[in-house]
Amino acid sequence: MKKIFTRILSAALVLSMAGALASCATKKGMTVQKGKLVMATNAYFPPYEYYDNNTIVGIDAEIAAAVAKKLGLELEIQDVEFDSIIAGVQGNKYDIGMAGMTVTDERKLAVNFSSTYATGIQAVIVPEGSEITDVDALLAGDYKVGVQQGTTGDIYMTGDVGEDRVVRFSKGNDAVLALSTGKVDAVVIDNEPAKSFVAANEGLVILPTAYVEEEYAMCINKNNTELLDAINKALKELTDDGTIPAIIEKYIPSNG
Ligand code: ARG
Repeated sequence: MKKIFTRILSAALVLSMAGALASCATKKGMTVQKGKLVMATNAYFPPYEYYDNNTIVGIDAEIAAAVAKKLGLELEIQDVEFDSIIAGVQGNKYDIGMAGMTVTDERKLAVNFSSTYATGIQAVIVPEGSEITDVDALLAGDYKVGVQQGTTGDIYMTGDVGEDRVVRFSKGNDAVLALSTGKVDAVVIDNEPAKSFVAANEGLVILPTAYVEEEYAMCINKNNTELLDAINKALKELTDDGTIPAIIEKYIPSNG
């Protein structure tokens, strides 16, 4: 009799410990909506986030799903304007912003960034045969440059050549469309999306010289260090066990 009783007791103990372990990741208040990880992105940015029919797929979507799973949360992705993501994270509308988002000192004043999970390059796209053959030529000339509003391409270009020469679009692919139709002379955008836009639009090329090199991370509300710590722990585990490298390799094959 006594034996059975202690067995039941220890089984109950193990169960409640498991419960406590699981709930420490999903403690009330750690995320905006209980049991969910709400991610804001701007889903016109292949291979990081883009639509496959009605589903948002890509490197960021898959890494976020793996992180959410580790935290015992259900991932919900919201597609919003890129330049509204940080304000939404600050206002606790979303738990995280993940959008091929570059870590910058200025953004760090507004939000916390997770550990970086990828690197990016601001690249320059021009029409084939353009007289703009390198970044210096782009900066020196009187050219109009298309950018996605609020991105580092926008911020750096505006700083380097001034408001008058920068034309802002709400989506990166709209900037590329404007380039195809001759409304701007060049587009500054992250290298991987640049490659896929150039592949999809005839007559465009990427300049061999990079404009700026950057690092991508998730942004999180400054007060939510609990979520930041949990995400960084998950990112480390998913890097160490090969999950994140495999996701990146799937979308950006290094082909040996
Ligand atoms: N890396 C750039 C930035 O942080 C551009 C990101 C744009 N992302 C997007 N999903 N549209 O400003």
